[in-house]
Amino acid sequence: MSIITFENVQYKHILRGITGGFTEGKITTLVGPSGAGKSTCLKQMNGLISPDGGRVYYRGEDLEQLDLVELRKKIGMAFQSAPMLPGTVGDNLSLPKTIFHETLATDEANRLLGLVDLHVDLNQPVKELSGGERSRLAIARTLVNRPDVLLLDEITSSLDFRMVKEIEQLIQRLQRELQVTVIWITHDLDQARRVSEDVWFLKDGQLLEQGNVSLLEPDGARSDIQAFLKGELS
Ligand SMILES: Nc1ncnc2c1ncn2[C@@H]1O[C@H](COP(=O)(O)OP(=O)(O)O)[C@@H](O)[C@H]1O
Ligand SMILES: [Mg+2]
Repeated sequence: MSIITFENVQYKHILRGITGGFTEGKITTLVGPSGAGKSTCLKQMNGLISPDGGRVYYRGEDLEQLDLVELRKKIGMAFQSAPMLPGTVGDNLSLPKTIFHETLATDEANRLLGLVDLHVDLNQPVKELSGGERSRLAIARTLVNRPDVLLLDEITSSLDFRMVKEIEQLIQRLQRELQVTVIWITHDLDQARRVSEDVWFLKDGQLLEQGNVSLLEPDGARSDIQAFLKGELS
């Protein structure tokens, strides 16, 4: 069953009638050339932007009808640059609480650091963290409100390969342990094959294919996907 569903979603000239769904409890990757509309799709899913036409549903309810504060607690989001505030690990981890004028208990903060295998002190300045540690902190931060869905936008693109593999394993473990639905934008097709069961292939604001990740096998793919696989579309 789909936890998030798009019904003919249009947005400016960027999304041109997207219809599809994301299966609850799975990892789905969003792939396609740069400028295809992947990030714009992701922003529709937690109400950062709204469709000009069509609808987005969360568990069968139109996002336009939902309380955005409650929705954003159900849907955690992380970006490539893992933007951090100046201050401590604790300050950064608490952010999804403090923006709602709530507090994050110290026990809970430490539990979250443990969950992502980040062994640093809550009082440590965030500027002392390595790139990999920041990524883990950014992931822990998406989990603060115990979301049902994680939206990840190119979260490993600035990491070296060893770290990329570690973050992939972490996300896969979290998906299993927390039974969270993961929707993950990546430009790395090998990463899509490694981590996801399902894939959405976007190009020019259209969803050209959705389904099992085997769609990315060179023999099975349709010609425009094959061109992308061969690097003819970047
Ligand atoms: N707020 C915006 N207003 C106008 N154009 C935008 C906006 N955001 C993104 N775009 C354009 O929309 C297209 C799709 O962007 P994006 O969703 O970021 O693609 P992707 O993540 O697949 O690279 C790009 O051509 C981008 O320049
Ligand atoms: Mg993008």
